[in-house]
Amino acid sequence: MATVAALHVEHLHKRFGATVALADASLRVARGTIHGLVGENGAGKSTLIKIIAGIHQADSGRISIAEQSFARLTPRQVEALGVQFIHQERLLPASFTVAEALFFGHELRRGPWLDRRRQQREAERLLAEYFALQLPVTALVRELSSAEQQVLQITRALLRKPRVLVFDEPSVALVKQEVTQLLTIVKRLREQGLSILYISHYLQEIHSLCDEVTVLRNGRDVAVVEPRSASGAEIARLMVNREVQDMYPKARVELGAPLLQVRGLSMAGRYRNIDLELRRGEIVGLTGLVGSGAKELVKTLFGLMRADSGSLQLNGRYLQLRSPVQAVAAGLALVPEDRRSQGISPQLSVLENLTLAGLGQFSRWGILSRRQEQAQSLHLMGELAIKASSPQALLSQLSGGNQQKVALGKWLSRRSTVYLLDEPCVGVDVGAKVEIYRLIARLVADGAAVLVLSADLPELLGISDRILVLYRGEIAGEFRPGTCDADQLLACATGAVTASLGGEDAYGSRN
Ligand SMILES: Nc1ncnc2c1ncn2[C@@H]1O[C@H](COP(=O)(O)OP(=O)(O)OP(=O)(O)O)[C@@H](O)[C@H]1O
Ligand SMILES: [Mg+2]
Repeated sequence: MATVAALHVEHLHKRFGATVALADASLRVARGTIHGLVGENGAGKSTLIKIIAGIHQADSGRISIAEQSFARLTPRQVEALGVQFIHQERLLPASFTVAEALFFGHELRRGPWLDRRRQQREAERLLAEYFALQLPVTALVRELSSAEQQVLQITRALLRKPRVLVFDEPSVALVKQEVTQLLTIVKRLREQGLSILYISHYLQEIHSLCDEVTVLRNGRDVAVVEPRSASGAEIARLMVNREVQDMYPKARVELGAPLLQVRGLSMAGRYRNIDLELRRGEIVGLTGLVGSGAKELVKTLFGLMRADSGSLQLNGRYLQLRSPVQAVAAGLALVPEDRRSQGISPQLSVLENLTLAGLGQFSRWGILSRRQEQAQSLHLMGELAIKASSPQALLSQLSGGNQQKVALGKWLSRRSTVYLLDEPCVGVDVGAKVEIYRLIARLVADGAAVLVLSADLPELLGISDRILVLYRGEIAGEFRPGTCDADQLLACATGAVTASLGGEDAYGSRN
């Protein structure tokens, strides 16, 4: 090839015990280009990145950066070679302030002293410059939303003025507007001569960004394609090695009685006068930008936050939710967005995690039937294509997307009346997404109701019966898929228009 490689990975092999994570994986990022890396959950993408980063060491193979070739690298060497990483797991120290986290390891000093003032000023300037974001720079990392933490990580990497930048699923925590910003930034970085390796499960992003994309399957590079001349469906097929059709399987389900009724729910400064109804057999989508109140509304329904006024009925019974435990006991199933910290236990096995929520179902006279437990979990693992060496494997050893699937499976395995799903498909590959949509369709066919909060508008349009859009704490629009498109939803979410379903006022006397 005539072009110069900024990063060249050749014939990497890597095993974790009995698991083969990489089996002869190669990849070449030409200088000044954006190179995509795609593959199913567990294909080996993060492992490849971690080997370049010096976090893991390959069993064999070579890595060339800036025309120097290495069999193994240390994190320090890689940084000195001008490579920066935005990893899939957020790694910023939670107890640091925004400014401290940005300059951690590269503190600004005045003589021998730490120059806090300047760090704060610089942090403000950088965040505003790159993301048009006004974050309180004295806030703690743990107080930030996942989107804000992600932005912080990216800014931190840019601060080191890298030549090569590696992103492992940078957009999963971001909403549409922020994704657009991110893509603009990444393109701008390419113009400035940076070389970029970009992992994403969002094929639209790959399409709009990448000059070339390497497809990884079972630890091996199976194709390099130019997204401009290959369709998303083609890339998806290369990833999963079969046709991906009918992305949004949907069964016709008769709607029944209301299962969840929310009336006049308000929480000061978050959301106002929310009426919401979920009927048996119904999938309702909910969306809104950061700050729209959608997250908080769902958290209230989870029992994680409390409303100031309004009422909530489940199956005709009034409820006062004070905790997720109560919510679950009342028949709600929740899949929180921050599943790593709220949904699952990394130090327990896949089996234990899957059975944790549904424990009651397997106990007879208080004794757990291990066999039933195991059978059900194996069934779920198959259904969601959870890739693990065995049901006994620790969750922390699974790839990011497979951990997401376990968190989801844990709740879907439990019979509930109403399912509240916060971003159910974040980080999940295209094949597994279809399986999750199929599961959701089955839940409502079996008589449940599902509320899906998602920033992925095509997903909401594909699976919902109805979509509610929140803007500044109020329901600004109600849409039926089939009669609207993503642009209309976005226009509503940004406050450009309001919309209601003409004629059929599902919410009674809202004014
Ligand atoms: N520390 C580890 N110990 C044991 N197995 C591991 C470890 N890290 C990764 N693996 C295994 O290696 C394989 C590849 O995982 P990797 O995280 O690279 O996948 P990925 O392509 O990044 O997937 P995802 O899209 O879900 O993030 C998986 O089967 C995973 O379970
Ligand atoms: Mg990964």
